[in-house]
Amino acid sequence: LIEVDHLFFCLVHSCIVLGSAITRPPLLFPQDALEVLAESYEFKEIPGRCLAFRRASSVLKSLPWAVRCLRDTEGLPCLGEHSKAVMEEILQSGHSFEVEKTLSDEKYQTLKLFTSVFGVGPKTAEKWYRGGLRSFSDVLAAPGIHLNRMQQSGFLHYGDISRAVSKAEARALGNLIDEAVRAVTPDAVLALTGGFRRYRGKEFGHDVDFIVTTREPGKEEKLLTGIIERLKQQGLLLYCEYNASTFDMVKLPSHQFEAMDHFAKCFLIVRLEGGRVEGGLHGAEGDGRGWRAVRVDLVSPPMDRYAFALLGWTGSRQFERDLRRFARAERRMLLDNHTLYDKTKFLAATTEKDIFAHLGLEYIEPWQRNA
Ligand code: CTP
Ligand code: MN
Ligand code: MN
Ligand code: MN
Repeated sequence: LIEVDHLFFCLVHSCIVLGSAITRPPLLFPQDALEVLAESYEFKEIPGRCLAFRRASSVLKSLPWAVRCLRDTEGLPCLGEHSKAVMEEILQSGHSFEVEKTLSDEKYQTLKLFTSVFGVGPKTAEKWYRGGLRSFSDVLAAPGIHLNRMQQSGFLHYGDISRAVSKAEARALGNLIDEAVRAVTPDAVLALTGGFRRYRGKEFGHDVDFIVTTREPGKEEKLLTGIIERLKQQGLLLYCEYNASTFDMVKLPSHQFEAMDHFAKCFLIVRLEGGRVEGGLHGAEGDGRGWRAVRVDLVSPPMDRYAFALLGWTGSRQFERDLRRFARAERRMLLDNHTLYDKTKFLAATTEKDIFAHLGLEYIEPWQRNA
């Protein structure tokens, strides 16, 4: 009887194991799991923990090989006890109790949804959640909710701007911006930056970032307003927030990472016509519109700060953070999007390579800065 019972148990058990192996959702990668925890702490406004999980996730992303067991991660920096415990659970079972609990948490899901709207940050999302709102229709129907202009555009173009931007679309936008800036000045310098400058294999981004400047000192101030004016005339500007430059040449760089840089910049939503893109627009086919909305960021530093701005805007955010920390902790230098200082001495640079050299680092290509 015991034998039969045991056999029965084994059978049932193996069926459960088999069954779960078949129906189990795609295995969670440890780096994605840690990113979920980082995000949940970002929503909870516990920046220390958020950063710890972001770092751990970045370290895993930067490895050229996949982690198969915890031993593979021995000697790696930034992996704390908590991150290791989550990793171990995932490596053993494909699941993490904490991560799955987070993913199914109503508050996490709601804040994730709300912050996916352009112009809605964790603070606003939290406020809406506390007010009992759980969906976009709740927000849009709630009395007494004031949406600012950015959020209104965020909702209006939600479908388009939450859809990935393809390389072909980024290229088409590059041509559009190039045309616009050349109408302002023929000696303009335009460069693709942000994620699209880093991606090699990956074909999609969530927005398109550009740096524009000119060799004529002081003239860069006029570039963005010129581009904006032209796009407006062409009927291609769906949203525009322009921040004039508050850049002060003599100011030392800030110690705080999150501080935005002081160059003139604008956050746009641009109407991209289908005809400009070879093979049509990614994801917009079939709805018969022939255009889509795309998020575009432009920043305009003076030419002598071009290399610093390019390095800063190429990202990734985590890479920038680490590079600055390295400059400060290992070299006693201050680096940010504007400048590099050794004590009170400005270290000039015309290329990114110059900056790496000042820092005593080997140059690495943008595609190696994805962590
Ligand atoms: N950045 C910045 N100051 C800002 C906005 C962005 O320094 N006001 C930098 C960030 O450090 C980031 C880069 O510019 O590394 C690009 O920002 P963003 O477009 O948000 O991210 P991407 O890395 O391009 O990724 P995605 O594909 O999601 O756009
Ligand atoms: Mn970007
Ligand atoms: Mn982004
Ligand atoms: Mn951007």
